[in-house]
Amino acid sequence: MPINIAVFASGAGSNFINLFNKIASNNLNGSIVLLVSNNPNSGAVKFAKNNDICIKIINKFRYKDKTTINKEYKSSLKENKINLILLAGFMKKIPVDLIKIYRNKILNIHPSLLPDYGGKGFFGMNVHHAVFNANEKISGATVHYVNKDYDRGPILIQKKVEIQNCKGPNEIAKKVLEIEHEIFPKAVQIFLNKM
Ligand code: GRF
Repeated sequence: MPINIAVFASGAGSNFINLFNKIASNNLNGSIVLLVSNNPNSGAVKFAKNNDICIKIINKFRYKDKTTINKEYKSSLKENKINLILLAGFMKKIPVDLIKIYRNKILNIHPSLLPDYGGKGFFGMNVHHAVFNANEKISGATVHYVNKDYDRGPILIQKKVEIQNCKGPNEIAKKVLEIEHEIFPKAVQIFLNKM
């Protein structure tokens, strides 16, 4: 049985787009059938619309409280028979009971070499600012399983990149994003091969 994958994304969606294209062209035993986003104006949603991928927008403007939001996550995943969730730049916290239901079936990409520069406050450009300010010579990206401890789940794959010539956080972000695009599809492949 092919694995039904949901991607959760909030932003530009380059990881989502890259995953979609690589999964489609690599003959993997899975396909992205659902995009969940809190941001209807994101690049991720635009791509999903143009590629006939089912979209579910979940945010506090549409749903009145956390309980309803939580229910919406669960019902959309159930309706689409999802058995793998990929967090690709998703800026909202995943409810703990969803993490329990999808134990070892949620992967997240993080733009640093975890456990360094992970945890509270380390998201998006904050990570690259901190790495730059600390004068690091090497950064990288990590794909890890999601558990209840933020950014602390078991690491599936990690890759380093040299950043000593980078003149600022934006340059670091660009280099790290390239690594993200390399390792996220690889992580999915590793996951699918184990199923
Ligand atoms: C990536 O750096 C991801 O690791 C981080 O947010 C960024 C999302 O980029 N959490 P994109 O939306 O996939 O282009």
